[in-house]
Amino acid sequence: MKNISLIEIGAHRVVPWYFSPYPEEYTKLPVLYLCEFCLLYVKSKTCLKRHRVKCGLFYPPGNEIYRKGEISFFEIDGRKNRTYCHNLCLVAKLFLDHKTLYYDTDPFLFYVMTVRDEYGMHLVGYFSKEKESVENYNVACILTMPQHQRKGYGKLLIEFSYELSKIEEKTGSPEKPLSDLGLLSYRSFWSQMIVEVLKTTDPSVHLSIEEVAKHTAFTVEDVMHTLTTNNIIRYFKGGYVFCLSQDLLDAHEKSMKKQRNRIDGDKIQWVPVD
Ligand code: COA
Ligand code: NA
Repeated sequence: MKNISLIEIGAHRVVPWYFSPYPEEYTKLPVLYLCEFCLLYVKSKTCLKRHRVKCGLFYPPGNEIYRKGEISFFEIDGRKNRTYCHNLCLVAKLFLDHKTLYYDTDPFLFYVMTVRDEYGMHLVGYFSKEKESVENYNVACILTMPQHQRKGYGKLLIEFSYELSKIEEKTGSPEKPLSDLGLLSYRSFWSQMIVEVLKTTDPSVHLSIEEVAKHTAFTVEDVMHTLTTNNIIRYFKGGYVFCLSQDLLDAHEKSMKKQRNRIDGDKIQWVPVD
């Protein structure tokens, strides 16, 4: 059952979608106020003002590992910044229907994306990632704050997750099951990137599925699925060829125009720990 009616975070008031395990005494309020920078929750605007004086944060904790234009990414260790990460999970749960959101944040890293203005670096979305994933997942949970959805930030988060996998020299895939919105976003992203790779490859070069996977950091299964559902792969004389229909190319052109922001992998300052 949904237990929070409304949250106020920065300049936004947002209606939650699902239950989130905030402490009981915070659940019967008309509005739950969140510090948009440390994500602490308080009962009133007055409490929030008092908190802001003490808090003093104008950006998330952790290391800023990427900056391009007004977009930044912070890497936050779930063990070193437990309170922040726990509060982030509580906010995220308001928009995630998963039974298994992990409240033990220690095994995860959190990649928080912000947009900068003259006041501070504002949370737009994040994804979490297991420090060690047996299944080779490169994303556990992913969220764009509802007030920022449908502007391409989801795809930017996804792109960033694959850029990290490229640095690790691995392929990766998001943790299953994905939500409906998660699946839509990933499918759209996978097609967009694969069409881009095929379009920009010299037609005389016969790329294999494995090479597409290596190039994108997508798993072979995700590449295969994308090639099949978009009818790109055609079997021919015991082998296969990739065909991009005019419709697909037109759709690709359109989504590339929409996707103004892109991640510049060279600007990521990060080395994987192993
Ligand atoms: N209806 C239809 N298609 C949608 C959609 C919606 N409400 N939201 C996203 N999509 C699809 C579209 O294809 C869209 O591309 P387009 O706008 O170019 O057509 C694509 O997904 C990505 O959109 P984008 O703006 O980059 O994503 P977003 O910032 O809205 O974030 C999620 C996408 C999944 C992160 C966001 O919906 C979210 O946080 N949902 C709640 C949490 C969740 O379900 N997370 C995934 C499971 S862990
Ligand atoms: Na999850």
